[in-house]
Amino acid sequence: MKKFSVVIAGGGSTFTPGIILMLLENLKRFPLRAIKFYDNDAERQETIAKACEIILTEKAPDIEFCYTTDPKTAFTDVDFVMAHIRVGKYPMREKDEKIPLRHGVLGQETCGPGGIAYGMRSIGGVLELVEYMEKYSPNAWMLNYSNPAAIVAEATRRLKPNAKILNICDMPIGIESRMAQIAGLKSRKEMRVRYYGLNHFGWWTQIEDLQGNDLLPVIRKHVAEHGYIPKVAGEPVEASWNDTFGKAKDVWALDPDTMPNTYLKYYLFPDYVVEHSDPNHTRANEVMEHREKNVFSACRAITAAGKSSAGHLEIDEHASYIVDLATAIAFNTQERMLLIVPNNGSIINFDPDAMVEIPCIVGSHGPEPLVMGKIPLFQKGMMSQQVAVEKLVVEAWIEKSYLKLWQAITMSKTVPSATVAKAILDDLIEVNKDYWPELK
Ligand code: NAD
Ligand code: G6P
Ligand code: MN
Repeated sequence: MKKFSVVIAGGGSTFTPGIILMLLENLKRFPLRAIKFYDNDAERQETIAKACEIILTEKAPDIEFCYTTDPKTAFTDVDFVMAHIRVGKYPMREKDEKIPLRHGVLGQETCGPGGIAYGMRSIGGVLELVEYMEKYSPNAWMLNYSNPAAIVAEATRRLKPNAKILNICDMPIGIESRMAQIAGLKSRKEMRVRYYGLNHFGWWTQIEDLQGNDLLPVIRKHVAEHGYIPKVAGEPVEASWNDTFGKAKDVWALDPDTMPNTYLKYYLFPDYVVEHSDPNHTRANEVMEHREKNVFSACRAITAAGKSSAGHLEIDEHASYIVDLATAIAFNTQERMLLIVPNNGSIINFDPDAMVEIPCIVGSHGPEPLVMGKIPLFQKGMMSQQVAVEKLVVEAWIEKSYLKLWQAITMSKTVPSATVAKAILDDLIEVNKDYWPELK
């Protein structure tokens, strides 16, 4: 069986160790000959890499391993680029969340003004990765889950239309795992779904088991009462995420025929989100205090002791969708997966040039999107507004246009007026000087 070479871009990510453990767990279906880490922050990456090196030496000594900040070393001789960078890291995420809140608008990693600010930083970073891949390993595929995926995907559609890049999100996977549990199935892979929308902005229209039995009634009944919180607790989740899964109950009520993505709460209940936010302590603070602290201290402990048992790192089982995607390409598995792809008529009554999240059959030539048909006015209206926001952000980045970015923030359903949008934008420009193009 062929063995593959992978570079993880954003090697210093809090998710990297969990992904390494997941890759090791999946070596039978996705054999590896080399793993490389690439990051532009040498110090951050080294803490993660040294621990991963110990884990790899213990568990899979045959896999070649290196970590580097040199693009040529990182991107030469690779089959897959797994990209999860965060341009500006958590301190900038904190600003994305706190600045809008100062103006009474919700502060979120990928939604509203915060997501727009993050998008303006990510576009250049992800395009740079695509360029390195095309230069040093032109036959490779990039599996991108760097956020904000919707804006990044639109930017690559516009600026790198022929790049071998697949944009994917784990939110539907997390929600489907909960749906499977609610329906009494062992795994979400025992379900076949129809879904349409934008990234972090979509709806399930059909959920069946593999025999074709409709699972929607049982899931609907549960969600109407409990949102996506299963009766028997699964893996532990932080309170803020639990609230989001529970709030799906209210999001669902807007259209009981479908099942919503949890992120729609930010667009449909922005007032609720603001009321339940602490402007001095947002999700970025929680992540720095928990995930980042835990992962980095576990890595330091492993490195200090020289053995993997010295620190507790959790395998990221949800991330096995990345292996599903890589094997679909590598072995032409024709697996059905939700990906962010150009609409091109899949949603019949929606912009063909929009990047939409829909089921695709994935094989060695990439994704073949399935037709999701005509969508109702409620969803179409919301999606048209949101896709215009995402397109305006990309145009603002390309043209360095203040006006288009102001229009984008104004058009976000999370923002009450052009006045508020301008005030937020001016504050965001101040703190993003090192990352955004200078706007005219
Ligand atoms: P993190 O800050 O811990 O890691 C990101 C790493 O990227 C850092 O080490 C940073 O130095 C590096 N980086 C930043 N800019 C770079 C650049 N231009 N080139 C190379 N490296 C660069 O962040 P995290 O919380 O672990 O998340 C990583 C990314 O994964 C984020 O974009 C996050 O939004 C995304 N994510 C996506 C999904 C999804 O469903 N699509 C799920 C989880 C996380
Ligand atoms: C989900 C989404 C990701 C997002 C993440 C944030 O997994 O699909 O796109 O980055 O949540 O999680 P965090 O724990 O960093 O707030
Ligand atoms: Mn996501």
